[in-house]
Amino acid sequence: MIRLTFSLNGRPVRLRTAADKRLVDLLRQDLGLTGTKEACGAGECGACTVLMDGEPRLSCLTLAAQAEGRELTTIEGLAPAGELHPVQRAFVERGAVQCGFCTPGMALSAAALLARNPSPSAQETRQALAGNLCRCTGYQKIVEAIQAAAAALEAEP
Ligand code: FES
Ligand code: FES
Repeated sequence: MIRLTFSLNGRPVRLRTAADKRLVDLLRQDLGLTGTKEACGAGECGACTVLMDGEPRLSCLTLAAQAEGRELTTIEGLAPAGELHPVQRAFVERGAVQCGFCTPGMALSAAALLARNPSPSAQETRQALAGNLCRCTGYQKIVEAIQAAAAALEAEP
């Protein structure tokens, strides 16, 4: 067992866990944060994406131990309680969600993109989402939603 201390969705976490536990299992099974999805379990699909120090990270390929001292954001922490992040709101309004299995990872990748590039082109948006696969939407509505979210964020006072 190892001891870990990290920030999770803005709150400090201290716990003990197995040294070989994957981050996705720590989040979903031990901490009950099932918004993070696991699909391929092999680094191929992006469904398990979380943010680590603001950057997208595949939690199925990350050991929980690698969270030590880091700031983690899962989909549960993307927006304040009772509100949607502009990316989430745009996904809903633009029909960018179908089965929804890819959506948490997509939304976190998109939020990270907009944090570093507030006005991405469609091409830059597609590149930023290259690691997030969606079997339902055909991607066009997702790209449109992210561009709408960028416009909404830029219009905020
Ligand atoms: S579940 Fe992690 S990349 Fe697919
Ligand atoms: S909405 Fe179904 S996988 Fe993307």
